[in-house]
Amino acid sequence: MALGSTCRVPAGRSDCPGVGLQGFSSGSPVHVAFLWASSEASGGHRRSRAPVIGQSRPEDETADRVDLGSFPQAGVAVVFGAGGGIGGALVEAVQAVGKFKHVVSFSRSTSPAIDLLDEGSLERAAAFAADLGGLRLVIDATGFLHDDRQGPEKSWRQLDAANLARAFALNAIGPALIMKHVLPRLPRSGKSVFATLSARVGSIGDNRLGGWYSYRASKAALNQLVRTAAVELGRRSPNAICVALHPGTVATALSAPFAATGLDVHPPPVAARHLLAVVDQLTSEANGGFFDWRGQTVPW
Ligand SMILES: NC(=O)c1ccc[n+]([C@@H]2O[C@H](COP(=O)([O-])OP(=O)(O)OC[C@H]3O[C@@H](n4cnc5c(N)ncnc54)[C@H](OP(=O)(O)O)[C@@H]3O)[C@@H](O)[C@H]2O)c1
Repeated sequence: MALGSTCRVPAGRSDCPGVGLQGFSSGSPVHVAFLWASSEASGGHRRSRAPVIGQSRPEDETADRVDLGSFPQAGVAVVFGAGGGIGGALVEAVQAVGKFKHVVSFSRSTSPAIDLLDEGSLERAAAFAADLGGLRLVIDATGFLHDDRQGPEKSWRQLDAANLARAFALNAIGPALIMKHVLPRLPRSGKSVFATLSARVGSIGDNRLGGWYSYRASKAALNQLVRTAAVELGRRSPNAICVALHPGTVATALSAPFAATGLDVHPPPVAARHLLAVVDQLTSEANGGFFDWRGQTVPW
């Protein structure tokens, strides 16, 4: 798959390597949910886990060794936003590891479909996935930065109420509603992780450049929602972990207009392996944290 391309499967056919179709509605424009049944065999040895997140590991070493060995066997992995650049790569990477019984992906083009602006669709997706087994790894890879209607603001002169509201709806409220319907469905025992893709530019403490008001503020709101939900989750399920992750700068449609020369831009498959290495190392002490693709804590 080309860098930054999306991986959408029309009803009845698969254009994505390794994708298996569960079923489809013949003649329907509705696209199918991707559902893979994978073997339980893990491709590599089970490495010992680092007790806490926060230390950097050499990039390639970490990415190459990811085996998701910290997760219980026979679980279900879910990716929301699987049509996106990072989301699509995450689905392929999780499937390649072969740790989970099912790998389920949701986008606006699957059936059931999700729409961040439609809470019912998020609830149906969460229920669909939970019916397949214990939700052990749920990654929200949705997000919004620009489209033909709006882009990141360079100045307060460009602030627009409708655009701000839209960014919050997509980057904060939608993921919050995913959490509302996913977190109560996480198993009460054994490791489980809910991770949502935030962004370092959502860090208030790290904001030195300014600009990008609506994206920054909506990601900061997302971070607060994650932290708040993590506190509640920790009371209910001590081994469940809810975190915000910064994926690094990744070559996708979202970043394409803004990836400056000289930045360390990762191809989506590399970014996906980094993120999986991070979630594999998370322990319950990491619940409520904000980590980058190296596993380093990002300031709020
Ligand atoms: N790329 C980077 O450099 C970078 C850096 C920092 C943080 N991030 C974060 O990483 C996440 C993924 O970004 P990406 O680079 O993979 O972007 P992308 O390729 O544009 O993917 C964005 C995803 O969000 C989904 N989405 C947007 N609006 C939606 C809606 N109303 N309902 C349901 N889904 C919706 C899209 O779904 P469809 O497939 O249906 O369009 C797509 O799957 C985002 O949260 C982004 O902020 C990315």
